[in-house]
Amino acid sequence: MVYSALLLGSLLALPAFGQTFRRTAACPDLGCVFPPDQTDFIAGQTFDLRIEVQAPVNGSEAYNNGTPDSNFSLKIGGQGGELVDAAQFFGLSDPPVEKYNFTYYEDLFAEDAKAPTPVNVLAKSYRNLQLYNPGTYEVVLSYNNGQHTKATWTVLPLAETKKAKNVIFFVGDGMAGSMLSAARLLGHKTINGKYQSKLKLDEAPGYGSQMTHSLDSFITDSANSASALFSGKKMTVNGLNAYTDSTGKPFGDPKVETIFEMFRRIEGGQIGIVSKAYIADATPAAVCTHTSQRSQYNTIIEQYLNGVSGNYSWYPWQGVDLLFGGGAENFLPSNANGNVSQFERWSSYGYQVGYTKTELEAFDNSQRALAIFTQGNISTWLDQNVYTDALDLAVTPQGKRGARDQPGLKDMTLKAIDILHTRAKERNTGFMLMSEAALIDKEMHVLDIDRALGEVLELDDTVRATLKHLEEIGELEDTLIVVTADHGHGFDVFGSADTKYLKEQKTDRTKRNAIGTYQNSGLSAYQVPQNVLPTNQTIFKSEQGEGFPITWDPRYTIAHGMSAFPNHRDDFEVNKDHERLPATKNQKNSSDSGYFFNPEDNQRGFEMTGNLGINDGQGVHSLVDVPIYSFGPGHELFRGILNSPDLAFKIAQALDLGKNSNVTSYYKK
Ligand SMILES: *[C@@H]1O[C@H](CO)[C@@H](O)[C@H](O)[C@H]1NC(C)=O
Ligand SMILES: *[C@@H]1O[C@H](CO)[C@@H](O)[C@H](O)[C@H]1NC(C)=O
Ligand SMILES: *[C@@H]1O[C@H](CO)[C@@H](O)[C@H](O)[C@H]1NC(C)=O
Ligand SMILES: *[C@@H]1O[C@H](CO)[C@@H](O)[C@H](O)[C@H]1NC(C)=O
Ligand SMILES: *[C@@H]1O[C@H](CO)[C@@H](O)[C@H](O)[C@H]1NC(C)=O
Ligand SMILES: *[C@@H]1O[C@H](CO)[C@@H](O)[C@H](O)[C@H]1NC(C)=O
Ligand SMILES: *[C@@H]1O[C@H](CO)[C@@H](O)[C@H](O)[C@H]1NC(C)=O
Ligand SMILES: *[C@@H]1O[C@H](CO)[C@@H](O)[C@H](O)[C@H]1NC(C)=O
Ligand SMILES: *[C@@H]1O[C@H](CO)[C@@H](O)[C@H](O)[C@H]1NC(C)=O
Ligand SMILES: [Zn+2]
Repeated sequence: MVYSALLLGSLLALPAFGQTFRRTAACPDLGCVFPPDQTDFIAGQTFDLRIEVQAPVNGSEAYNNGTPDSNFSLKIGGQGGELVDAAQFFGLSDPPVEKYNFTYYEDLFAEDAKAPTPVNVLAKSYRNLQLYNPGTYEVVLSYNNGQHTKATWTVLPLAETKKAKNVIFFVGDGMAGSMLSAARLLGHKTINGKYQSKLKLDEAPGYGSQMTHSLDSFITDSANSASALFSGKKMTVNGLNAYTDSTGKPFGDPKVETIFEMFRRIEGGQIGIVSKAYIADATPAAVCTHTSQRSQYNTIIEQYLNGVSGNYSWYPWQGVDLLFGGGAENFLPSNANGNVSQFERWSSYGYQVGYTKTELEAFDNSQRALAIFTQGNISTWLDQNVYTDALDLAVTPQGKRGARDQPGLKDMTLKAIDILHTRAKERNTGFMLMSEAALIDKEMHVLDIDRALGEVLELDDTVRATLKHLEEIGELEDTLIVVTADHGHGFDVFGSADTKYLKEQKTDRTKRNAIGTYQNSGLSAYQVPQNVLPTNQTIFKSEQGEGFPITWDPRYTIAHGMSAFPNHRDDFEVNKDHERLPATKNQKNSSDSGYFFNPEDNQRGFEMTGNLGINDGQGVHSLVDVPIYSFGPGHELFRGILNSPDLAFKIAQALDLGKNSNVTSYYKK
């Protein structure tokens, strides 16, 4: 045993670089191939191929005084055929060699010692490629005098039939299964353990789950997780449908085509994006934009309109058909966007532009549309529907406090369906809509559980209304609906809290006695009988409709916790005035720049000392697999346990997007 362990150790020669500081993601050797080993493709999916040959000057991987071998080659072969030079394989001329350097820290010790490792690089990018024939391909980069980096790629089989004409892809950002359980408890009533009504999602004929980890880290962010869902390729954190190369530049990284882009290219289909976040945020951006840095908001908005432009472009994109969300700050003229009003620009491209729910509802269904309702995120469902005084804080696109004429997710989604459906019908094509319940994640980050669960219930209500509306317009039979998350947060409910008792206790230790677990958790107090009909049937219906709590501030609330948090206090009561801000910096302590308990937040609660780094002022994403609900034609493909890229492949299968030749249909604006 000792012998074999030694042998293994010397044979495997595990990468010496640190766990948390990667030289370059998905590049364990000094040669890098993007897309990396184990990548799957849809037949005909467009992508860029990049190789890098790296030579660290010093550190544990130092090579040849930092001089990479300039005699490197890239070969590719498919289906058991001979390996041939990549340029020849793709029928291209050999791309020019790029030469540059970068530095990185090997680990935390190197960072503390300020001892970076400089790395010299030679690289090449082959752009606008497609693999048409299903099967396995071998890619071999030879470099540094006989070293090899290999990648095995698989082009997935073509679909046998086209199952769906339209797809609506709902993303509950950050929505773990535990949040659905909690939302059901708040919005629906049980009698002796039997629910009298359920979530609409509970009726989904397709149910499964998916793994959310990224290419090079087991905890993902929303950019790379949404890229996996929409392009079938896992990325590095912050990457939007582009692998993060070692240049450190936001553009020029090797890109991959999304299913939305393929649908547009192949079928001339209609594309719509709806989100409650600022619209340049990662999930909406992952529908059709490409950058390794999700914070490039101005360029993301430009890419919605014109696609990737300049040297790295593939083919004309011609703009999304509609874009509804928040984030007016990125559309107003600013120094960062060259003083351009994107509102005027989109208008000059023929989009109708609106700023309020009233204007949204008045839109002509046969014209492309841009509607931005707020600066920053759109207001939460709880603020828009229950504690409406909080809207005094919301900012209109024009910069005034008190944005009250805002739509909810349901309003935006139904209007989007009307526009996409009308336009698709006129052009004899289908539509794809991405609708994001974005604030589940934003509110979980700030530990505002009531606001987050309000967003979950709003998503459920939106799915219910969507199914009904599709039936009314005759599209139900042709529309695949997928509802999933991009990642979870470590949230769960573990009992109830007697808020009346808790607030009268004087110490943190006695406050904790207000928590009831097991048999003392009791029943949900958020649902009280509202009405007894003449038939003696009891109904549970809040002012906001069925499926929402009748009261958000019962004496006995849910006791909940997170797996990752900054210093914070919890009193388990709804925050009526505004969303929570659990931790703030203590400006007075110059020797500690980290986060402390926010003295203004949940003052009556008891303290929980953070378990995150002191520079994290919010909760973070977690590892848990997230649920997938599906309805309509092709829903059966989404059952079982999937990996995030599988969703893109299964949507491509339902829409029959895989093609064994170069297909470009004419898109009619
Ligand atoms: C370059 O490498 C190839 C093998 O990868 C080898 O056959 C060839 O001799 C090398 N050329 C030079 C100039 O070293
Ligand atoms: C990195 O490149 C810069 C400019 O291209 C050059 O001045 C510098 O010497 C290089 N660093 C190393 C370690 O080679
Ligand atoms: C590598 O060399 C650079 C430049 O000489 C130096 O600043 C750095 O500390 C060295 N890093 C390591 C890991 O030895
Ligand atoms: C585009 O490529 C050309 C030719 O390689 C180069 O001269 C030019 O600087 C590039 N433009 C940008 C914006 O990178
Ligand atoms: C934007 O306008 C301001 C004010 O007129 C000006 O100072 C600034 O240079 C402009 N920025 C750009 C990028 O044009
Ligand atoms: C969106 O909401 C989150 C949570 O309140 C906040 O941290 C973030 O700054 C907001 N972003 C914008 C652009 O308003
Ligand atoms: C409803 O309940 C009342 C009182 O128990 C009873 O008199 C009445 O017959 C019931 N009505 C129906 C429709 O069951
Ligand atoms: C300031 O921060 C330091 C380091 O965390 C801590 O030791 C010290 O007690 C803090 N001082 C005050 C006044 O909070
Ligand atoms: C596919 O066809 C389009 C339109 O003819 C062309 O612009 C594009 O370069 C082609 N792509 C490939 C990979 O051949
Ligand atoms: Zn997310």
